[in-house]
Amino acid sequence: MTETSSNGVVAYDVENGIAWVRFNRPDKRNAMSPTLNRDMMEVLDLLEFRDDVGVLVLSGEGPAWTAGMDLKEYFRETEAKGLAGTRKAQRESYGWWRRLRWYQKPTIAMVNGWCFGGGYGPLFACDLAFAAEEAKFGLSEINWGILPGGGATKVAQELMPFRKAMYHAMMGETIDGKTAVEWGLVNEALPLAQLKDRVTQVANELLKKNPVALKATKDAMKRVGIMSYDDAEDYLVRAQEAANSYDSEGRKEGIRQFIDEKSYKPGLGAYDK
Ligand code: ACO
Repeated sequence: MTETSSNGVVAYDVENGIAWVRFNRPDKRNAMSPTLNRDMMEVLDLLEFRDDVGVLVLSGEGPAWTAGMDLKEYFRETEAKGLAGTRKAQRESYGWWRRLRWYQKPTIAMVNGWCFGGGYGPLFACDLAFAAEEAKFGLSEINWGILPGGGATKVAQELMPFRKAMYHAMMGETIDGKTAVEWGLVNEALPLAQLKDRVTQVANELLKKNPVALKATKDAMKRVGIMSYDDAEDYLVRAQEAANSYDSEGRKEGIRQFIDEKSYKPGLGAYDK
């Protein structure tokens, strides 16, 4: 059954271990208003530690994933409230993107349509990203006279080859789903009609894995980027040892089912939890 956030601008369903969360302002192309940002934090909060949620998928209602920040409500109206208003709006948007970046459960961006500017924050925050071939991505900031803020420049620079990132930011042109794969923004692009099936398949695979190991893995992948090799090696030893304190038996069971029981091959799939 579909549920909605306090102000109705985020919708979600939980089905078979997957939380399907949607930007829900289709008439405004899911532009991120302060209200939407607050509602999204509320929904992330609600779902994060629910036992019936193993994977979270973020998509959009209607033809957009999100058209980025709401130019009227996020920029014009908060600027009118002075610096305090601007900083509050920034905290609310950056806040839920950060929450999503370090979410307890694996997260997948399912980009069904338009994805602009500030949308690169939640796009980057999700662990994996799948797009419709028909989707259109753009750093449109330059087209209305600002730099790609709210982390969008950093996202492009992290994910894309440098020349592509620079072209993308300076030209303000859109790219489609296939180009977004080529340039490193998303994992895969499929025809829109096949997108949900593919994401469901990926989510179901993730649901079979050890959840403690998944959280440790995704955090590790995000954290080691700026570490030296030696620092990373040390961090990874400690991260695994910390994970062992949450799940002391999982890996032993994984070894047992392979070596003693011969019931699966770790090279080809997950052990039976
Ligand atoms: N902020 C506020 N309102 C928006 C936004 C936005 N980012 N995007 C769309 N809307 C509103 C429109 O004003 C319009 O409202 P109205 O019906 O009250 O007139 C409604 O959503 C529908 O938009 P259309 O432009 O009619 O939809 P269309 O499907 O033709 O175009 C598109 C979609 C390309 C996404 C277009 O709306 C657009 O260019 N939006 C702005 C994209 C953008 O540059 N976002 C900001 C990125 S920069 C940043 O996030 C920091």
